[in-house]
Amino acid sequence: MSFSLPELPYAYDALGPHMSRETLEYHHDKHHLAYVNNGNNALKGTEWEGKPLEEIVKGSFGKNAAVFNNAGQHFNHLHFWRWMKPNGGGAIPGELEKALKDSFGSIDKAKEDLVQAGVTQFGSGWAWLTLKDGKIAATKTQNGESPLVHGGKPILGIDVWEHSYYIDYRNRRPDYLKAFVDHLVNWEYVAELFGQK
Ligand code: FE2
Repeated sequence: MSFSLPELPYAYDALGPHMSRETLEYHHDKHHLAYVNNGNNALKGTEWEGKPLEEIVKGSFGKNAAVFNNAGQHFNHLHFWRWMKPNGGGAIPGELEKALKDSFGSIDKAKEDLVQAGVTQFGSGWAWLTLKDGKIAATKTQNGESPLVHGGKPILGIDVWEHSYYIDYRNRRPDYLKAFVDHLVNWEYVAELFGQK
């Protein structure tokens, strides 16, 4: 089973003004597609060819950089499109809301820590809400890594590579992160992943 590029689950202009059509055209049609194509090429003839994606990501980490970087980013972006929705960032489903309050003290603190993880990620990477040992934590990873390769389960990820925000926000990464948390997060999808724990 080779990698393939999914359709966006909404129209290209559906996330405006927080994320523009131009950003999604570049990010989805060019960047994600490159991970798909480069990943398929890198997988050829390796022990991971035809394996499930999560197995490839975990198995190639630290062993095969070309496979890992592209498979990792393919995994991250498959979810990333679904971690956003038009008019997102609203009410958080009950069980997840309770778990966030238990882990962070309040929803505001959870959001603040997630934004801060993204602001402080030096260079390209991701900010996460990670489920580990029954608790949710705000974490960050570099490049194509995710909590998957650090013993956790990613339930929300925000892409902080410049390709995710530079067209709309230029160097203002904190403004992008704040807009993401307030207006883009698809909390129903986060809750779905949380429920699969
Ligand atoms: Fe990206």
